[in-house]
Amino acid sequence: MRNRMMIAAVIACTSLAVLAGENMQAKIEKLVAASFKPGEGQDMSRLVQDETQKLCSATRNNPKAKDADALTAREKATIKYPADNKLMGDWKEGEKLVKGGFGMRIGTIEPDPPAKQKGGNGGNCYACHAVDAKEVAAGNLGPSLTGYGKLRGQGEDMVKYTYEKLYNAQAFVACSSMPRLGHNGILKPEQIAHVTAYLLSPESPVNK
Ligand code: HEC
Repeated sequence: MRNRMMIAAVIACTSLAVLAGENMQAKIEKLVAASFKPGEGQDMSRLVQDETQKLCSATRNNPKAKDADALTAREKATIKYPADNKLMGDWKEGEKLVKGGFGMRIGTIEPDPPAKQKGGNGGNCYACHAVDAKEVAAGNLGPSLTGYGKLRGQGEDMVKYTYEKLYNAQAFVACSSMPRLGHNGILKPEQIAHVTAYLLSPESPVNK
């Protein structure tokens, strides 16, 4: 009896804690949303979390293995490929996208005019990765990609993995901090193929 009461008490406390957690989450979301005003070129849709982001937020990027598997499978199913199905594009085009210090260009305010006025979105890879060994300004949130193709080869599986990883990083690492570049429309499938070539091609400076 005593044991049962203790268990009931523990369950009640846990439910309360979960409830408090949800309320806190909702409060934080409201606060963040209120700090952005529409009409200044912001992409307000980015404030709404999808199922994947909600799970990662609720679990502090550490979902249970079963949930993480369901998440990566769901993300993988969203990957789209270029119309001609060529996953290795032009590495020189890829280089421009990798170096582009922009992610999405959403502002209408200088110095960040909309994508259509200036060369499109960038990959902003150097914010998180070392890539070309000659470029010294690089972030280290992600692993170094210097020599990526030299180390990993250019086999069909590696080309496919690299393309898919760039298209949707969360198809592989459930709560990766890497942006879902294709999924979120930051880069188009053809552009992702160019970046894939930049990472893998033996001619690319990444592999020199
Ligand atoms: C906001 C940070 C961030 C940005 C921007 C970013 N990445 Fe990443 N990337 C990461 C992190 C963190 C990882 C490691 C976790 C993972 O695998 O998802 C990673 C992993 C990778 C991997 C897998 C490495 C491996 O060994 O398999 C590749 C390839 C990659 N990134 C390429 C890129 C390229 C190319 C760009 C730009 C188009 C880019 N990333 C932009 C953070 C970022």
